Amino acid sequence: MLYSDDVIEEVRYGNDIVDVVSSYNISLKQRGGNFLGLCPFHNEKTPSFSVSSDKQMYKCFGCGEGGNVYSFVMKMDNVEFKEALNMLANRINYKLSQTDNLHRQRKAGNDNKDRCFEINKLSARFFYDTLMSEAGEIARKYLDNRKISKNTIVKYGLGYSGNSGELYTYLTDLGYDPNELVSLGLIVKSKNEEKYFDRFYNRLIFPILDGRGNVTGFGGRIIGSGEPKYLNSKETPVFDKSKNLYGINIARRNRNRELILVEGYMDVVALYQGGIENVVASLGTSFNQNHVRVLKRYCDSVILAFDSDQAGITAALKAMPIIAQNGLRVKVFSTNEAKDPDDYIKKFGKDKLKEQFSNAKSGITFQIECLLKKYDIKKPDESVMFTTDAVKILSEIDSSIEQDVYLRQVVDLTGISDFAIRTELAKTGKTLSPPVKPRRIKPPTEVLMSASKPNKAVTEAYKRLIMIMAYEPQVRNEVSKYLSIDEIHVDIYRDIFSNIFELCFKNEQIYPAEFLNRFETPEDQKVVANIFLSNDDIYISTTEKEVNGLVKKIKDYHINQYMVGANDDESLKNLENMRKTFVDLYIKISDG
Ligand code: GTP
Ligand code: MN
Repeated sequence: MLYSDDVIEEVRYGNDIVDVVSSYNISLKQRGGNFLGLCPFHNEKTPSFSVSSDKQMYKCFGCGEGGNVYSFVMKMDNVEFKEALNMLANRINYKLSQTDNLHRQRKAGNDNKDRCFEINKLSARFFYDTLMSEAGEIARKYLDNRKISKNTIVKYGLGYSGNSGELYTYLTDLGYDPNELVSLGLIVKSKNEEKYFDRFYNRLIFPILDGRGNVTGFGGRIIGSGEPKYLNSKETPVFDKSKNLYGINIARRNRNRELILVEGYMDVVALYQGGIENVVASLGTSFNQNHVRVLKRYCDSVILAFDSDQAGITAALKAMPIIAQNGLRVKVFSTNEAKDPDDYIKKFGKDKLKEQFSNAKSGITFQIECLLKKYDIKKPDESVMFTTDAVKILSEIDSSIEQDVYLRQVVDLTGISDFAIRTELAKTGKTLSPPVKPRRIKPPTEVLMSASKPNKAVTEAYKRLIMIMAYEPQVRNEVSKYLSIDEIHVDIYRDIFSNIFELCFKNEQIYPAEFLNRFETPEDQKVVANIFLSNDDIYISTTEKEVNGLVKKIKDYHINQYMVGANDDESLKNLENMRKTFVDLYIKISDG
C-alpha cells in the first residue's frame, strides 16, 4: 500500500461519515445514536439506510450494503481506494504527499498545522524540562503539595514556565521566526517597543493534546494565587477552545464507553491518579456541540461531574440537552460535600468517588430535582410553572419507555396528576406514548374485563365531586393532583372529570353553560346538565372532610375493580400497595 495506515486513519478520522453521506444529498434523520435515510444503493421508498456516528459506519437493512467512509465514497463515485482517499483528504485540506513523507524536514514545508504542532511539541518538552530542572523546584513543590505524583506528571506531560524570555530564546535559537511564535500565541509582542515576551511565565503548564496526540495548546496555572488563575492559549490555527477536551488523548485509550466530564485540568489529573482514567475536561469553556462531536467518537455515555457551585450546576443543566440530543446518555454526579471532583477525591478517596460515579443519577432526574428546588409546588401557580418546565424536559426524551418512567417519577415526586402532565405533554406534540384523548377515554382493559356498573353510591360520589370541583377552584386544584381519570369508571363521568382537569390546568373558570358545549351528543349533554342543575343553590358548601370522603370512595371502587380482574400474586401485591398509599391520603384544602 502506498500510504501508511496512520495516514489512512487520519483522513478517515477527519471525515465524519454523517457529514460525508449528507454531502451526497442524502437526507438523514437522527434516530437515537444513528441516522436514517433512503439507501442510495437501491430503490426504496421507506428509509432503511442507517449511518452510525459512533461506529462511523453505514449499513442498509434493505439491500445489505455496508462499510465505512471509504467504501461509501468508492461505491458512490465508482472509484478505487486511492481515489477515495484523495477525495476525502482534499475534503479536509489534508496534504497527502507531505504528511506521508516520513523524512519530513523540521522547519521546511508549508503545512502550517503540522508546523504548529511541531513548535507546540517542542515548547511542551521545554516546559517539562524546566519543571524537572533546578528552576522548576517551586513548581515541583506545588505539585507535591497537591499530591500529584511523578507518574501523573509524566503521563500528562506537565511542565513549568519559569522566567519570561526563556521559551523565546529557546525557540528562536532553533531558528523559528518570532512572528510565527506570536501567531501561535506562545510569544507576545509589546506594542510600542519592539520587544517580545513569553506568554506563559511562572506558571504550571498543562499541555493540551487532541485525540491524535498533537499538542494544540496550553493551559497555565499560576503558582499560588494571582490573576488570572488560569491562562490558556489564544485561538490559533490549531487551538480551538470550543473543541478542546483536555485529557482526551489519555481517556480514549481507556476504551471505556463512558466518559466523565469535569470542569478543570486539576480534576482530570487528580481523577486519573485515583485510577479513574476515562476523564476529560471542557476547560471552563461552555460545553457545546463541537465538544459532543469529539466525545461521540469515544463514548456512548457521559457522566457530568462539574463543580458544585451554582455556575457548575447551570453549566451541567446547559450541557445535558446538548449531549442527550446527540444520542448519548447523560448522568450526573453532584455533591454539596466538595467543591469539585478533585476536592472530593481528596476528602473522601477514590473508592468513594468511583462508587458515586457508578450510582450517578440520570440527567433527567437531576434536571427535575433542580426544578423542584426552583419552585414551591405547593403553590398552584408555581406548580403550573413547574409542570410546564418538567414537561419540556420530558418532551426531549426520545424513548417512550423512558419518557414514561420519568413521567411517573415526576408524578411521584410532586403528586401532580399523571393526567395533568400527560395533557401538557400531548400539547408539545412530542409525547411518545399515545396521548390522552381530550374527550372520550376508554378505560384500561383490565377494568373492562371486570366491568360491573358502579353502584349508586359511587356514581353519586362522582356527581357530587364534579359539582364541588366546578365551583370550588381550591378543591379543583388539590383534587386534580391526586385523582386521575383512570380512576373514574363510567365513560361520561370520566369525560367530565377530564374536561374539568383540563380547565383546572389552564387555570380557567368553569361556567356550566359553556362547559356543556364540550359535549357533543344530546345524551352526554343531558347528563352534564343534570349534574349542574341538580342543585339550585350554586353556592354549595362543602368541607375538607367531605371532599376526602368522596375521593376515597372513588379510589376504593377503582382498586376493587382491579382486584376482581387481577389473577396473579404480583398484580394483587401491586394493588395492595396502591391501596396502602391512598389509605393515608388526606387532601388538605387551604382557604385562599
Ligand atoms: P484549582 O484551583 O487549581 O484546583 O483549579 P480548578 O481546576 O478547580 O479550577 P476552577 O474550578 O477555578 O476552574 C475550572 C476550569 O476553568 C479551570 O481548569 C480552567 O480551565 C478554567 N479557568 C479557571 N480560571 C480561569 C481563568 O482565570 N481564566 C481562564 N481562561 N480559564 C480559567
Ligand atoms: Mn474546580
